[in-house]
Amino acid sequence: MDVERSIEALRGRVSVWRAHGNTVALVPTMGALHEGHLTLVRTAREKARRVVVTIFVNPTQFAPGEDLASYPRQERADAELLRAAGADLLFMPSVEEMYPGGHSTRVRVGGPAETLESEFRPGHFDGVATVVAKLLLQALPDVALFGEKDYQQLLVIRRMVRDLDVPVRIDGVPTVREADGLALSSRNAYLTPAERAIAPTLHRTISAVARAVAEGGSPEREASLAADTLVRVGFRKVDYVAVRDAETLEPLTDYVIDSVGDASRSARVLAAAWLGRARLIDNVPVNFG
Ligand code: PAJ
Repeated sequence: MDVERSIEALRGRVSVWRAHGNTVALVPTMGALHEGHLTLVRTAREKARRVVVTIFVNPTQFAPGEDLASYPRQERADAELLRAAGADLLFMPSVEEMYPGGHSTRVRVGGPAETLESEFRPGHFDGVATVVAKLLLQALPDVALFGEKDYQQLLVIRRMVRDLDVPVRIDGVPTVREADGLALSSRNAYLTPAERAIAPTLHRTISAVARAVAEGGSPEREASLAADTLVRVGFRKVDYVAVRDAETLEPLTDYVIDSVGDASRSARVLAAAWLGRARLIDNVPVNFG
């Protein structure tokens, strides 16, 4: 596995692969890699002949006061993990390479970007969409892979690619979890042992909401009970627990619940809550009958 830090070198490598008729998959990350990221890389291996992984802690998706400065960075360990997982190229640009002085263009996505996370992290998805658009244009892959762990992000990127006619397929990969249900996340490193013991309650609680809603329970009532449960077990603050249309993230209406037989409609339970200094997010599907 080689490491490149300039856009020009990345483009050169990819164009040689293409000239030889090889397909290319892209896996964008911010590093501090864990088994969730590595599952994306292994899945990418199955989908294309060559796999490019990017590590870039993207400043434009962090708001002032968020954890940009303290976000875990471990370049050497990450490179070893990626080599073992079978990545062909690691692209690790500097902030100056990605955002040279005077950069002033932002991608702003509407639709699924306008709710949930955006109410608590204004501007976050503009930063995500901007950097992902840049990475897609730099690498020009056939397919790019994103985790369902960040379900809203996956929908936002799908919408951006569709709306801007970016010629790439976006594939989602199911969330990788610890044995007790906690979704793997680089930010789990912020948890104290006591908080780590409480953390799996998030997945357990939203899974209970999904089951209750599938059995006809009221989405609003179940979500609000779940938020109470999280506070009771020790979460410091619940940003949201919400049951939403799985494609548009619009609130689930009674009409959608009545049309259970309609396979084209699906729902998702999404949550974000604070445990100590860690903000945990998770989501699960609602499996109607
Ligand atoms: P990061 O949080 O590093 O995540 C990189 C990719 O790994 C994302 O697609 C994310 O959904 C996926 N991922 C994280 N934890 C996962 C898990 N437990 N199971 C499956 N997939 C998981 O998301 C970002 O970086 C950034 O916003 C990025 C897209 C790179 C743009 O800067």
